[in-house]
Parts: sequence; C-alpha cells; structure tokens
Amino acid sequence: MGDKKKNSAESDLMQKIVGLCKRRGFVFQSSEIYGGLKSAYDYGPLGVELKRNVMAEWWRSMVHEREDVVGLDASIIMSPKVWQASGHVGGFSDPLVDCKDCKTRFRADKAPVVEKGAEVKYRAQGKTVTGVANQPYVCPECGSPNLSEEREFNLLFKTNLGPVDTGDSTVYLRPETAQAMFVNFLNVQSTYRLKPPFGIAQQGKSFRNEITVEHFIFRSCEFEQMEMEYFCPPEEAPNWLDYWKQERFDWYVRLGCKKENLRLRAHEDDELAHYADGCYDVEYKYPWGWDELEGIANRTNYDLKKHQEASGKKLTYFDPVKINPETGKQGVHYLPYVIEPAAGATRTVLMFLLDAYDEEPPSEGRKDGRVVLRLHPRLAPIKVALLPLVKKDEWLTGKAREIVKDFLRNGINAFYDEKDAIGRRYARQDEAGTPFCITVDGQTKEDGTVTIRYRDDMRQDRIKLEEAVHIVTSKIRE
Ligand code: GAP
Repeated sequence: MGDKKKNSAESDLMQKIVGLCKRRGFVFQSSEIYGGLKSAYDYGPLGVELKRNVMAEWWRSMVHEREDVVGLDASIIMSPKVWQASGHVGGFSDPLVDCKDCKTRFRADKAPVVEKGAEVKYRAQGKTVTGVANQPYVCPECGSPNLSEEREFNLLFKTNLGPVDTGDSTVYLRPETAQAMFVNFLNVQSTYRLKPPFGIAQQGKSFRNEITVEHFIFRSCEFEQMEMEYFCPPEEAPNWLDYWKQERFDWYVRLGCKKENLRLRAHEDDELAHYADGCYDVEYKYPWGWDELEGIANRTNYDLKKHQEASGKKLTYFDPVKINPETGKQGVHYLPYVIEPAAGATRTVLMFLLDAYDEEPPSEGRKDGRVVLRLHPRLAPIKVALLPLVKKDEWLTGKAREIVKDFLRNGINAFYDEKDAIGRRYARQDEAGTPFCITVDGQTKEDGTVTIRYRDDMRQDRIKLEEAVHIVTSKIRE
C-alpha cells in the first residue's frame, strides 16, 4: 500500500474508534463543553466498565490466581526524595524540538529521520520549498528541517504540598506506579513474611507531561498503569524474565487478542534503559504500525540499591539458608533482582477496542451490515441485554425487568432495552460488544422459554428461562 493510502486507512479505523467511543459512551474528550483539554479523557458508562474489566482481569491473573504475588495501593504523591533517588527528577526527560516554520513542538526521537545535510522538500505558506537538514530529523507535521536546538524536557508534573509554595514544598505526581513497590519492599516482605521469589502488584493512575500526545488514549498525560515488581534471587532473574514475558503475552491472547496482531520484541542493547539487563516489549499492530503495549524488564537490583543509598535504610533480604560465599556459613543478606511487567491499562483498553472492532457487510438474508465489537465476554461492559419483543405488553416488559434483576443479583451486568424494533436493539448491543441478548416474547408466556442470541455468529437458541443465568455465567467463565 502507498504511504498515503496506508495513512488514510489508519486514520479511518482510528476515526471510527474515536467516533464509536463518543457515540456510545466509551470515552469522551475531557472538559468537552469548554472546548476540551488536550490529552485528557473521560471514560463514560461503557468505557468505565471496559477499563475496570481489563484491570480486574489483570488483577485476577497477577494476584488472585497466584500465591507468590500480593497487592499494594500506594499514594500518588510520594516524598520527592523517592523521585530524586529513582533518577526521575534528574533524568526523566524527552528531547524536545520546535519547528520554526509551523511552530509544532515535538519529540526528536519520534520524528521522521533524514540524512544530515540532505536536501528536503517541504510545504511552507502554501508553497513547496527546499531546505537543508542540519539535524537528523525533520518536523513530523510539515517536513521542515528548519528546527530549534534540542532541549531536554522533564516529564514530571510538579505541584506543591501545603498552603504556601515555599519552594521546598515541591512534590510530584507519580510518573509510574513502580517506585512505591520498591520503597515498600521491606514493609510488604516482612508483614506478609514473603520469601523471594515473590511479587508486589499495583494498578492506578500515573502522570507524565508528554510532549507529544498521540493516537487518542494511546499516549496521554494522565493514564493508568498495571505494574508488578517480581523480587527474586539474582541468579534466577534471566529465567523469570523469560517466564514473565511469555505469561504476559499469553494473557492478551487468552482475553481474545488476535495472535497475529501481537509480538514480543527484545530490546536492542542501545535501546535498553541504563538500569535494565534485558527487556522485551509486547507490541501490538496498531493502525499506525507495531508499537508498544507493555514492557517486561529485568531491572536488576538498581532501584533497591538507589533507595538504600539515598534513604540510608537497609533494603536487603536475609536468606537464612543460603550459604554466604564470603564466609562459607549459612545465612546471607542480599538485594533481590527485579523482573517488572509494566502495562498500561488505558492503552490496553484502546488495543482491545481496535482488535475487537469489526464491520460486517450486508449479506443474503440481512440487508443491513453491522458494526460489532467482538470483545471477550469477560471484558464486555454489558454481559447480557434483556429485550421484551413488544413494548406495549406489560407481561413481557415486567418479565424482562425481573430477569435483569436476577442477573444483577448474580453479579452480571445486565441491561434492559425496550426501545425500537428488535433488529435495531440487537445492532446497538453488537456495537457495544454485548455478547448475549435475551428476548422475551409471546412464547415465554406459554412455555417459559426465551431466545438467546449470540453476538458473534447471531445464532439464536431457545432456552428455559430458569437456565438463563447459568448459561450466561458459564459462557463468561469459559
Ligand atoms: N515502571 C516502568 C514503566 O513505567 P514504561 O514503559 O514507561 O515503563 C509502562 O510504561 C507502560 O505504561 C507502557 O508500556 C504503556 O502501556 C503505559 N504508558 C506509558 N506512558 C503512557 C502514556 N503517556 N499514556 C498511556 N500509557 C502509557
């Protein structure tokens, strides 16, 4: 495909997703009635359910289904000393460049690359002009090589604690959830009497003053992370890195992500963070190409060491059994190594929306095409919709509402809809990703059966009313 065609197909799908999100209440632009705030998003009724389901599935597989991982919920605002020790205050920055022609501000490391000294053609004030590239990239917006010098821009959001800004009251909004696991390492280890290997998991908001916010909720300034720090004896770290990279890859596949759209990519040596000894990205094939979904890194004992040095508090683990190589006696204090699977919850929401989106053209026997979100039933915001065939029949509407209550009592998110013809109601649920619709009709009165319709193949079965909750529950748990 030519670049132009590819770009338009890309923006086409993204536009459809953004449109669907707004139309159906998945994601809205923040502060929309005031013109919107760049890079901030609000999750509507369907979006909040989808995001919570993604995060609950992560928690289930990372914490509840394992004996070796426990949870943590730390403050977003931590002591500024944490961020000094971790290196974020000094070094958490991106290279920033301004285009002197179109005034776009962008990240140098994300800009189109050209050969230094090359002649480049670009559009300025409606004309095509030629310039010489004195830096190895050009403006991503207009293609101009006429750029400012590169500056480092720190991504930390600053605020101050207390009523008066005295200068030394500066605090930061956390840019990752990870550091709280390091500074609480001994608190958690000792209170839960844990022995490496073990993990501490956390989910929640993180904040980065990103220079380039892009692709809807893919990169925003406020986002949610799902991170786990797995503390292990240093010699076991390479094996645990292998284990976790596969475990995390499989998690996306288990939740329905198409395998051909996912890959694991090892970081090249020059890509590795200075503290990391090996890193893999789980990448997804987004409409704009392969890009990061999650990183799984061997962070060595870098973070514990830094916090130990800066706080003056020993953060070593004492293994009473291990032989100390220096003394030859049993018992050794050591700083564990850390394997870190770090995922973005909001980015994962976008990924699942893109992956699940499908358009079916009209076919024989069905004159209208349909848009369907083929979300895994565990992720679907609404699990089942209850539809009385005829709105005016009070017995039908009453029965449908009764069944909704029954589902809700069983912890299954059910939705009642009586408006419009049944076909339109099915279409609305397909677009919302609802895997099951149950229709209550005249026959229900006679024999106590209802129709269950499956989203993916639109098959319809007649089932006994009293079996409905059981059937839907077992399909969700499959
Ligand atoms: N503790 C390691 C860490 O934070 P990271 O690669 O910077 O690593 C982990 O972030 C994940 O968080 C990313 O893979 C991505 O899914 C998500 N993420 C990072 N920055 C983001 C942003 N500005 N907007 C949305 N998600 C982001």
